[in-house]
Amino acid sequence: MHELSLEEQLQKMRADWDQRARENARHFVDTANEDWTDEEFFASGEKTVAEEILTDLGNICQGKAPPEMRVLEIGCGAGRVTRALARFFGEVHAVDVSGEMVRLAKLALQDHPNASVYQNNGKDLTVVPEIPFDFAFSSIVFQHIPSREIIENYVREVHRLLRPGALFKFQVQGAMMGPTRPDDTWLGVPFSERQASDMAFRCGFDPRYRYGAGEQYFWLWFFKR
Ligand SMILES: C[S@@+](CC[C@H](N)C(=O)[O-])C[C@H]1O[C@@H](n2cnc3c(N)ncnc32)[C@H](O)[C@@H]1O
Repeated sequence: MHELSLEEQLQKMRADWDQRARENARHFVDTANEDWTDEEFFASGEKTVAEEILTDLGNICQGKAPPEMRVLEIGCGAGRVTRALARFFGEVHAVDVSGEMVRLAKLALQDHPNASVYQNNGKDLTVVPEIPFDFAFSSIVFQHIPSREIIENYVREVHRLLRPGALFKFQVQGAMMGPTRPDDTWLGVPFSERQASDMAFRCGFDPRYRYGAGEQYFWLWFFKR
């Protein structure tokens, strides 16, 4: 196979995720279950928020009341976590590369007028209004992105939209699972601790905390300087 250009890689990402969304969106969003009921699916999003957000309010809210906060999510899928975010925070803006996933997320959020979902180009946040955000979050998304360039571009873009001092909390692939292929939109590029910190510094963040280095769920706390 010839080397994919960035544009070809982004097209492949969109096509593959649209296909997964048509086949069994909820399963590909969270492979813990083949056949999610509405109730279980959205309860699993509440669990993510309970585990990753409610346990970490000092870093995330920094003294602000959650209903006063504007939050950004990258890779919202079918709105599993987005819905839980919209129940907790004042305003949520979420992007996803897949139009099919965005359609499902909009359905999931139809009773949550404080949430906006956008289909983006898979690499930047130009579809999101340029207003200051208080917190950004992304879970089980970058672990599927095979390109370091695309992930770093997102980190730079989040930096553009966050207010100074605010946190971008996100998860990357930390396990070294062998070589990633540019046309494989399932297995994302792994980050070592050093690679993660270097990326933070290049993009204007302070990489203050990390958890799970060497594992699939490698969580990073990047604070905008
Ligand atoms: C495993 S799902 C997780 C969805 C959601 N974060 C959750 O936890 O329920 C991964 C999502 O990331 C999206 N995605 C993959 N590559 C992306 C990219 N380059 N830009 C934006 N979204 C992307 C996919 O379309 C899919 O909806």
